[in-house]
Amino acid sequence: MTFNLLNKDINTLTCPALVVFAKASSQKDKPAKVTHSELAKRLAGAVEEKTITGKHQEAVTFREIGFNGFRHVIVVGLGKENAIDHESVRQSMASAYEAIKALNVKEAAIHFDGVATGKKDAVEFARATAEGLTLTAYVFDELKSDKKDGKKSELNVHVVTKAAAGIKAAFNEGLVLGSVVNFSRRLGDMPGNLMTPTILADSAVEAAKGIAGLKVTVWDKARIKKEKMGGLLGVAQGSDQEPRFIIMEYKGAAAAKKPVVFVGKGLTFDCGGISIKPSAGMEEMKYDMCGGANVIGTLLAIAKLKLKVNAVGLVASTENLVNGSATKPGDVHTARNGKTFEVNNTDAEGRLILADALSYATELEPQMICDAATLTGAMVVALGNTHTGYFTRNSALKNKIEKAAGESGEWVWQMPLTDFHVKDMKGTYADLSNISAGKGAGSATAAAFLEQFVGEGIPWAHFDIAGTGWAVGNRLPYAPKKGASGAMIRTFVEIAKQYK
Ligand code: BES
Ligand code: ZN
Ligand code: ZN
Repeated sequence: MTFNLLNKDINTLTCPALVVFAKASSQKDKPAKVTHSELAKRLAGAVEEKTITGKHQEAVTFREIGFNGFRHVIVVGLGKENAIDHESVRQSMASAYEAIKALNVKEAAIHFDGVATGKKDAVEFARATAEGLTLTAYVFDELKSDKKDGKKSELNVHVVTKAAAGIKAAFNEGLVLGSVVNFSRRLGDMPGNLMTPTILADSAVEAAKGIAGLKVTVWDKARIKKEKMGGLLGVAQGSDQEPRFIIMEYKGAAAAKKPVVFVGKGLTFDCGGISIKPSAGMEEMKYDMCGGANVIGTLLAIAKLKLKVNAVGLVASTENLVNGSATKPGDVHTARNGKTFEVNNTDAEGRLILADALSYATELEPQMICDAATLTGAMVVALGNTHTGYFTRNSALKNKIEKAAGESGEWVWQMPLTDFHVKDMKGTYADLSNISAGKGAGSATAAAFLEQFVGEGIPWAHFDIAGTGWAVGNRLPYAPKKGASGAMIRTFVEIAKQYK
């Protein structure tokens, strides 16, 4: 599978399949406009008959139409012409990709000119096109016996435009982002037995090989102990698998420049520990490392795009299981920053491993910290799988996050974090309790717990991706029906760009 930008006149091309687009009129009862002028004439009847309406994501395939050098023509709807933005383009490209796949051809051309109306749009849309195509092409079938030998699809898709100059870089950026998101999705989709903390760490090391300016260090259990990471160790003691602490450092700016730090929850399987989860759906807890996987993807993307920023990615990784040494309800552990906590529910383990990671992040005196974690079921209740809820008390960082999400197309929603939530997390026997003394607001009280490990004055935001980390395919046509989504990688990269 390859996607490339071709700087050519589309009419000079010979290819089995051609994709053009149709825009629905913003005025009622006006016909759709097909973006290729010659085809617009040829398909005027289909437009008249409303076979082609331009409706967002509509795909109408004209098999064996024999137009110029093309056997088949696909017309993909972009939606109402005044409502087209980069996200609708990203989604329309999913329809284009699926329609091409259905034709079973080895090569296809996508007519890009005319999708955008302005120069700025063209740049944004070129990136969205590359992202939409790459993200839709993701499949996770390597564990099926007939796919084991890694049979690759031979499809080559050319995105064809007459004006490649300004948009080439944007298209390439889209390809990089799409491919790192797919890399992280694969980490998430791998089952717990094949994606242990050790394998997760090795995957980060392997992926970073050969990328300029990117260094990966992995701490094993002995080192984690030496580094006084009592939260991570406390969770890991219930498992036969060794924990790992992954440090990814990228230097894209002067050495003296403070880094931006991304922190991820890398729970490769969460059964709940002694406070065990119900059996139904427990297999989904292999996704509990998606925050970590997506932080790894974020650092890979920042380095591949050569952003002029110093960035660090920290992933605390362990299983949460139940052997004879597992942490018991009531046990008290000490985090890296010296604070103690009672574990009153062993299933609230993400915050314990993040406590150490955030303490370590604080020691780096960063410009800001953003963490991503599948932290609470309450987040799924609150926002489902549409928006990632984020928590921050820093208004400048909030503005950066909103701007970044606007650029990436990922939906985020600010959630409250107040001193009341902090009060609910006070411990009886230790400094803190890992569950709230109050009722409700489970995501906010979890955020309040995390806040105790972030240094005073450091801009920090916590992203709870419990609802958006996987299974968003019902909403996003470029995401798998069931599977890891790679949520927040693209937004985190946009945040990092603002610290150049
Ligand atoms: N990994 C879960 C959160 C989760 C739940 C993610 C559903 C995705 C889907 C987390 O470790 C957990 O179990 N949290 C508990 C906390 C509670 C015990 C305070 C929860 O949300 O129930
Ligand atoms: Zn849990
Ligand atoms: Zn968990």
